Amino acid sequence: MVGDHFLSCKNLDQSHLESLLELAGRLEHEWDRGNRNQDLLGKIMASMFFEPSTRTRMSFETAMLRLGGQVISVADAQSSSTQKGETLEDTGRMLNHYADVAVIRHPRPNSAHSLARFAKIPVINAGDGDGEHPSQALLDMYTIFAKRARFDGLHIALVGDLLNGRTVHSLIHLLATYQVTVYLVSPKALRFPADHLPDALRDKVYESDDLSQLIEQLDVIYMTRVQEERFDSDDAYQSVRGSYCLQARDLRKFRKDGMILHPLPRVDEISTDVDELVQAYYFEQAKKGVFARMALLKTLCSSC
Ligand code: NCD
Repeated sequence: MVGDHFLSCKNLDQSHLESLLELAGRLEHEWDRGNRNQDLLGKIMASMFFEPSTRTRMSFETAMLRLGGQVISVADAQSSSTQKGETLEDTGRMLNHYADVAVIRHPRPNSAHSLARFAKIPVINAGDGDGEHPSQALLDMYTIFAKRARFDGLHIALVGDLLNGRTVHSLIHLLATYQVTVYLVSPKALRFPADHLPDALRDKVYESDDLSQLIEQLDVIYMTRVQEERFDSDDAYQSVRGSYCLQARDLRKFRKDGMILHPLPRVDEISTDVDELVQAYYFEQAKKGVFARMALLKTLCSSC
């Protein structure tokens, strides 16, 4: 949690990660027992979404409210002064007069870093273009941790648009702190970018465009959407759209205690017949997101 912001997974070490996962577990347990936590009473979260979002925004806002805090928001990108040309650096300078923590999603890579540059309050990156999405990676790890309790020995395939998908750019850094085997499965045009590959995994990941050959070896299949909004032309998008569509019949050899994850929204990467399988964890993953974000807000706000 370098600099008290949460901008990237690159510098999150194992002990910080595990304390967040354990806290998320305690918060979920308490919530299920009906115990209501008011640790962030009197604190305000600024919710700044300059790109579409359903789960990330709602789960951050729910997380803040469940901890007794309050939320203010930029209603939509068109109604903020960035539309008039204000820089995110300038926006960041005055944030502390309004809020105690800020969550930003923006189409430009490193946008959260710009906001954080002069912000005196913790800034959380909720997705910066095709850069990173660290809180999604945190909740992905929490979903695996809640079921398996450990990561070492895990065989995981990251599947789909690995070039533009920011969730995998973050998740791979958290996975890399453990003894895991990572398979990068994508069409050639959407391969994982070398500059996002952690040193610890360099020369250790397996790249393929064929998921079916790997199914029996995997513990976790992490599907992603082809990121239509990042393509220059519709033709380019159409040429890779639907590269992977997981169906129940493809999963007959997938281990029964395996997990299928997806940050959602899905378009056509997972057929609805997969939803009934015991390995389908993506809706549980969205639920777990609230607890992972509660843990993050509580940790970042403990000194704010
Ligand atoms: C992801 C995102 O916005 O990067 N969604 C999310 O936050 N749950 C993945 C996606 O949009 O494909």
